[in-house]
Amino acid sequence: MSHSTRIDDIQPFHVMALLARAKELEAQGKDIIHMEIGEPDFPTPQPVVDAGIKAIREGDVHYTPALGLPGLREAIATFYKTRYDENVTSSQVVITPGASGALMLALGAIMQEGDEVLLADPGYPCNRNFVRFLSGTACSIPVDASSGFQLTLKHLQDNWTDKTRVVMVASPSNPTGTLLEKTELIKMAQYVKENDAYLIVDEIYHGLIYEQEVYTALSVDKNIIVINSFSKYFNMTGWRLGWMVAPEKLVSLMDKLSQNIFLAAPTPAQYAALAAFNPETIAILESHKEQFKKRRDFLLPALKKLGFRIEIEPQGAFYIYANCEKFTQDSYQFAYDLLEEIGVAITPGKDFGDNHANNYVRIAYTTSIGRLEEGVKRLKQYLINR
Ligand SMILES: Cc1ncc(COP(=O)(O)O)c(C=O)c1O
Repeated sequence: MSHSTRIDDIQPFHVMALLARAKELEAQGKDIIHMEIGEPDFPTPQPVVDAGIKAIREGDVHYTPALGLPGLREAIATFYKTRYDENVTSSQVVITPGASGALMLALGAIMQEGDEVLLADPGYPCNRNFVRFLSGTACSIPVDASSGFQLTLKHLQDNWTDKTRVVMVASPSNPTGTLLEKTELIKMAQYVKENDAYLIVDEIYHGLIYEQEVYTALSVDKNIIVINSFSKYFNMTGWRLGWMVAPEKLVSLMDKLSQNIFLAAPTPAQYAALAAFNPETIAILESHKEQFKKRRDFLLPALKKLGFRIEIEPQGAFYIYANCEKFTQDSYQFAYDLLEEIGVAITPGKDFGDNHANNYVRIAYTTSIGRLEEGVKRLKQYLINR
């Protein structure tokens, strides 16, 4: 029996094979420093856990409306006012199973078969796979440090065809942790509108921007589809809860799609998330953010000192995208060698695209300073002795 040929074009995460090997080594008693993991190491804040448990105890375990609990949609709309001074109505908010669910719904609602979607390489790998799954064409555009590893108006102009329907960006970006300049976003949003297309801005790493003034893409243009999630800043990856703010005309389409694909996002997670915006929870999350910043401020200079080239400093998320040309022409093999030889796990560039991927690795600071120090110590010994 044949299978869907779409799947043949979809790549697994290379880092998963690495992670499996790391687990094997751990089972043999080896100590592995995990600097590959793309999720916070902090537990979900207690008020959120308590709200989730309470909901389950009280029997709040049935389907919610496909667009989400009205109270949570309202709380998210209010969050935009509090955090960004942006007016969002709860009817624009769609609750989804993670940002992943939101990306799928957004693309599902706006894409036609054969449409082209512009995205940055390196970038979040699932996006091009979602596009493929929906029978579109992902057009990966090579980006580099000169644009902060972000798309620019020029990239859009140079790559636009009459099939281009969607542009996807993330700020801060995974894997680079870099931001999209507001002035550039304004120009891009204008261009996308003029060309009757859609712009999706993934703000999943919002809340983890360490110095810069934070703005949401909604302040630029209300037609932008903004993706967010409880996974990263809110430390809730496994609860599988995200959201999207979309123009109201798309929400009814997403409602229909969500009813059919997901029925709804997980109910206990939605009740738990009602406690995510409490001052007590936010205080815990802000202290976690402080720790991420301290880790970045330790790791960044330490990696540079070792000889990694950090072409542009990350302003957010919990990743450093490092050029490792000095050590290797094959970052995948390099990542494997580091794991086998010194028990340091990092993610090879090829998980994020094809653009000079062999020269880059992504190093995550999703572990304690103590463990990062140990990782740097091992790297130093290994890289010096080669
Ligand atoms: C840029 C980006 N978008 C979306 C996601 C999906 O996140 P989730 O489905 O856990 O909300 C991730 C996860 O790593 C990501 O890095």
